Amino acid sequence: MTLATMNDLVRPEEGLVSGRCFSDPRVYDLERTRLFPKSWLFVAHESEVPNPGDYVTRYMGEDPVLVTRAADGRIRVLLNVCRHRARLLCSTDRGTASHFMCPYHGWTFTNTGELTGVPYFESYQGRLKKEEWGLQGVPRVEAYHGLLFASWDAGIRPLLDHLGDLRWTLDLFFGRADALEVTGPPQRWVVDCNWKLGAGNFGGDFHHVPVTHGFTAALGLKQTRAKRQSYYVSDPSGHICSVGIFLEQPLPKRYLGLPESLLPEFRRNLSPEQFALLERVQTSAGTLFPNLSYLNSSSHAPGEWGAPNGAEVSFLTLRQWQPMGPGKMEMWSWGLVEKNAPAEWKELTKLCYQRTFGAGGLFEQDDLENWAEITRGTRGPVSADLWLHYNMGPEPVPATDWPGPNRAFATDRSLSEINERTFYRRWQELLNG
Ligand code: FES
Ligand SMILES: [Fe+2]
Repeated sequence: MTLATMNDLVRPEEGLVSGRCFSDPRVYDLERTRLFPKSWLFVAHESEVPNPGDYVTRYMGEDPVLVTRAADGRIRVLLNVCRHRARLLCSTDRGTASHFMCPYHGWTFTNTGELTGVPYFESYQGRLKKEEWGLQGVPRVEAYHGLLFASWDAGIRPLLDHLGDLRWTLDLFFGRADALEVTGPPQRWVVDCNWKLGAGNFGGDFHHVPVTHGFTAALGLKQTRAKRQSYYVSDPSGHICSVGIFLEQPLPKRYLGLPESLLPEFRRNLSPEQFALLERVQTSAGTLFPNLSYLNSSSHAPGEWGAPNGAEVSFLTLRQWQPMGPGKMEMWSWGLVEKNAPAEWKELTKLCYQRTFGAGGLFEQDDLENWAEITRGTRGPVSADLWLHYNMGPEPVPATDWPGPNRAFATDRSLSEINERTFYRRWQELLNG
């Protein structure tokens, strides 16, 4: 096998991905210039900025941005960099403010980006035109079910087109309720790992679970051995997800462990086909290309948390893999909950999310250790040139019983790497320009 070149880092037909993808600074530089500035990037959930004046600070790739809701109610995304000498304008995570004053020399901007205050303004003697030195705005900001995305590419196709047919599947989790809200601010932590390892794993690697997360069986936490099947769903835009369903008859109708009081709302918001599928869903995880993933699963709530011992409680989490270099990322993790859910249940779902996939979550720690060790394992000049094997699974045959519009493949025990091949195929297309 010949060594990978920069134009040939992925061979999807052969199921091969080069180790360089996870460690080479030249690859990372292409991602910085060709991938992130040309993509729709998640910046916030709308419920994080509910009122005029609210803001949060975020990243688009490595660019820091402010997400603000101004007095006109509109959400804007602005480069969080002072136009005077490029100091980070706002260093706090979130708050409410009509103006932002740079801590260095005091230039002051409104939450819509206009420069309004300049100390010693008269000393510029007409050489500074405030109207030309406002914050740089991100030209495109669009939302889908409260998920806010932004892009630096003014000509990028609309977000709805970018999400394409995958919206049908996303609706099962993000469109079933009248509204979702975050369970709190995102949890964040820095990991010595390449950002793509999380994106690929959440969208397409489910056969790691018995080995990596074997503690669930060892501790007797696995309470169901129900027969199940997974659909691997993907879109040519690089979005990938898996939907695992129960096959038992009669159907258990667990609705992922969601409270029954929400079912009329779900029935109203989903099509009959979507609602029928949701009845059977056991778990679903996916990645919206390039770096936002989600997971909707359930956990068993111990009695001391207020639920009957063994009750299943659904949790929904968003995870963003924020690049900080070829071998480093910041992990951002949100819990989401149905706005109209009972208050006690909101508390339970938050605990279930934190216990499994929060910063100290049992599953979280297992995964990150693996991805950090892959990053370490591909750092050397010899190991970077290894071709890695992504070719698991039988010859994929499209699932004829998948009710959604996307291409889907069925597998009985998640034994396939087809989704990761789709992700890396799209990734290479964009890197090759
Ligand atoms: S760098 Fe912001 S005011 Fe000077
Ligand atoms: Fe995992």
